[in-house]
Amino acid sequence: MFALKLIVLIFSISTSIASGTVPTFKLNDGRDMPRFGLGTWLGSMETSGDVKKGEVEDSVKWAIDAGYRHIDTASIYDTEDEVGKAINKKLAEGAVKREDLFVTTKLWNDAHAREAVVPALRKSLETLNLDYVDLYLIHWPIAQYKNGTYYDVDYLETWEGMIEAKKLGLAKSIGVSNFNQQMLERLISKSSIKPAVLQVEINLNLQQPALREYCRQQNIVVTGYTPFGSIFPNKARSDAPPPRVDDPTLVQIANKYNKTVPQIVLRYLVELNVIPIPKTLTKSRVEQNIDIFDFELTQEERDLFKGYDKNYRTIAGKEWIDSPYYPFEKN
Ligand SMILES: NC(=O)c1ccc[n+]([C@@H]2O[C@H](COP(=O)([O-])OP(=O)(O)OC[C@H]3O[C@@H](n4cnc5c(N)ncnc54)[C@H](OP(=O)(O)O)[C@@H]3O)[C@@H](O)[C@H]2O)c1
Ligand SMILES: *[C@@H]1O[C@H](CO)[C@@H](O)[C@H](O)[C@H]1NC(C)=O
Ligand SMILES: *[C@@H]1O[C@H](CO)[C@@H](O)[C@H](O)[C@H]1NC(C)=O
Repeated sequence: MFALKLIVLIFSISTSIASGTVPTFKLNDGRDMPRFGLGTWLGSMETSGDVKKGEVEDSVKWAIDAGYRHIDTASIYDTEDEVGKAINKKLAEGAVKREDLFVTTKLWNDAHAREAVVPALRKSLETLNLDYVDLYLIHWPIAQYKNGTYYDVDYLETWEGMIEAKKLGLAKSIGVSNFNQQMLERLISKSSIKPAVLQVEINLNLQQPALREYCRQQNIVVTGYTPFGSIFPNKARSDAPPPRVDDPTLVQIANKYNKTVPQIVLRYLVELNVIPIPKTLTKSRVEQNIDIFDFELTQEERDLFKGYDKNYRTIAGKEWIDSPYYPFEKN
């Protein structure tokens, strides 16, 4: 009986991940989180200037139509309003139900005081025009006034505000972003509620095996931001390690599955149990990126991908290097 149940369980896991619909993870607070999402950060000031009003709204609508149920935004992205418009239009059309969507937003560095957290979330909810978010994240462990100077708020204090937000039902789950392992250990040992999710940069050049293993042991789900890393030549810094999207070996593997190189890269992250949240404002790419749940890489291919890990960070937040809470290597 037990063996049969086990076989059924294994079968259902392997089919759910290959059947073409997006599977979910069970979070440590009992809620479900889709294992794939849409990013909505428009990039640095220099690059985001070209984006026209309505483009983010369109991408979110295309995404929901294409089967995305998980959308990632943040108050600092200045995209909450368009994300909210798209979601509310799709809800009004009856295309999707609120309980089937998973919406994440993030607390900015200037609202880290315990009593500032709930008001900051209420402001985000007002901009989103939603009653709650599914996940609220501390965006960075760093506290900063609006004028940019640091202020001395420990993220343990900020986390107490996050717990209040959860108790009020304004955020169904709470988590952190850009925390390192030592920060997570400290947070877990000193707080009554564990983060459900850690969102950090994960891509071919920065696979973070030790941090992922720690999160697995702690039952913390890992979302991977900037999932494409440096594969697109127009986005890669000159010192970024290979591969690029035209790498012949990757092209060959992609062709074998009738997929594109961006798709096999995203698929690899899914197979690492990471939740990728690629951003695109291009309809065909919105649709292409999520179309990765009907095939599986071989062990040999996964080993090849593993070899691209060079501990190379694209988002280092170096402007905060002098903060006592700077989370990354300082060199
Ligand atoms: N927590 C944090 O601190 C943090 C930091 C960074 C990012 N994030 C989150 O993670 C999300 C994703 O990261 P990201 O935006 O930095 O980078 P990304 O998703 O790795 O890359 C986005 C870029 O890839 C292009 N692209 C997307 N799909 C493509 C495809 N199939 N073929 C060719 N090009 C494609 C997009 O172009 P087009 O748009 O022109 O199509 C865009 O220029 C963000 O949007 C944000 O939600 C969080
Ligand atoms: C930045 O803002 C804080 C809080 O309002 C203030 O105490 C501090 O003097 C300001 N610093 C600068 C350099 O303007
Ligand atoms: C290959 O993928 C494309 C795009 O998804 C699809 O239209 C086409 O039918 C696929 N071809 C095969 C042989 O599966």
